[in-house]
Amino acid sequence: MSLRTQALRAAVRANVPRASRSFSLLARQAPKAAVAAASRMGLTSQATRGVKTLDFAGTKEDVYERADWPVERLQDYFKNDTLAMIGYGSQGHGQSLNARDNGLNVIIGVRKGGESWKQAQEDGWVPGETLFDIPEAIEKGTIIMNLLSDAAQSSTWPEIAPLITKGKTLYFSHGFSVVYKDDTHVVPPKDVDVILAAPKGSGRTVRTLFLEGRGINSSIAVYQDVTGHAKEKAVALAIGIGSGYVYETTFEKEVYSDLYGERGVLMGGIQGMFLAQYEVLRKNGHSPSEAFNETVEEATQSLFPLIGKYGMDYMYNACSTTARRGALDWAPKFKEANLPVFEALYKSVRDGSETRRSLEFNSRKTYREDLQKELDEIDNQEIWRAGKTVRALRPDAKKEDL
Ligand SMILES: NC(=O)c1ccc[n+]([C@@H]2O[C@H](COP(=O)([O-])OP(=O)(O)OC[C@H]3O[C@@H](n4cnc5c(N)ncnc54)[C@H](OP(=O)(O)O)[C@@H]3O)[C@@H](O)[C@H]2O)c1
Repeated sequence: MSLRTQALRAAVRANVPRASRSFSLLARQAPKAAVAAASRMGLTSQATRGVKTLDFAGTKEDVYERADWPVERLQDYFKNDTLAMIGYGSQGHGQSLNARDNGLNVIIGVRKGGESWKQAQEDGWVPGETLFDIPEAIEKGTIIMNLLSDAAQSSTWPEIAPLITKGKTLYFSHGFSVVYKDDTHVVPPKDVDVILAAPKGSGRTVRTLFLEGRGINSSIAVYQDVTGHAKEKAVALAIGIGSGYVYETTFEKEVYSDLYGERGVLMGGIQGMFLAQYEVLRKNGHSPSEAFNETVEEATQSLFPLIGKYGMDYMYNACSTTARRGALDWAPKFKEANLPVFEALYKSVRDGSETRRSLEFNSRKTYREDLQKELDEIDNQEIWRAGKTVRALRPDAKKEDL
């Protein structure tokens, strides 16, 4: 585990409000007290509302919400279940702690002696009681929540598959393993429910939003329904792991949109756009600070938050008439230039090329070093080195950052 990840974990722990920490303790000790504490903290809802059908720009979609699943109902629904979280990366950490705080019966399954084994103990999971190696946790669990890395889900499947016996439920947070089964070889047994709850964000956010009394948005899907209750179980689990609102999708659509989005605007696309804009400014004699400020700093600190909060039109309205006119004229040109790249990307996701690339790279023995080499290259690019100095000059930066 990188120092950065460790620091993030420590930060999350440090940010846990005192009330939530004691709630977490209560939840483990006494479910009734946990319910009362949850209620005081606003984590429960008095009203039981139905599914909401909402109009998304003219298309009607069903949305489920936490208010439909007060913590008492969740605890009752899962009273005979043991949630076995297999893997303790960012999702395993966030989902398991939230479910534990919701008073559900949770155990962790990770390989002994690994980084996750150590981290889980630091978070209060006890070897032999709530922390086991992977096969033992699967045997003890009724709902097997496979939160290993996607590459590990594939490489460990031959050992895991025989343990997923009739009556258990198999859960994922990504459609990756089963949708690309020709490459991953993850073929679930025919006699178990197979469901998905995929938080739309990092496991760190799954945890922090829950602790703030909010909840991340998640999608749910059903791949296989042998009990007739698979969808309801998926919704309940999504709420149990800390979701606020839950959208319905399919395994295929979840994985296609997810792989596409992260390679596109969410990560790869934005990195490419930042770099291209910065390079042209530098070639034309602009200083690193000017190029960075006009490319990244103003975007992340001022304009993108406005889009996030109020929408694109609001952002336009908040800008000067000069900026607005130019941006409105250039937006269609960027769309036209980018469209073929996005078309090629979607095709590459659909035909499994992205999956094969990801499995090959993430299964290498030298995976961590190879990745670190690429990340170091980014860190050493002038744009991001300039960014460090710019960030240190933000009004809220500490003096020692300079
Ligand atoms: N991260 C996100 O933002 C996000 C968001 C939504 C959904 N998801 C999905 O959630 C799932 C989990 O993702 P994640 O990011 O939390 O996990 P991750 O960091 O990719 O995976 C970490 C876990 O996998 C274990 N692991 C790796 N290789 C292993 C092996 N060969 N044998 C046994 N265990 C192994 C690690 O154990 P050790 O510590 O022992 O190595 C660790 O517990 C994935 O399906 C992912 O697509 C992720």
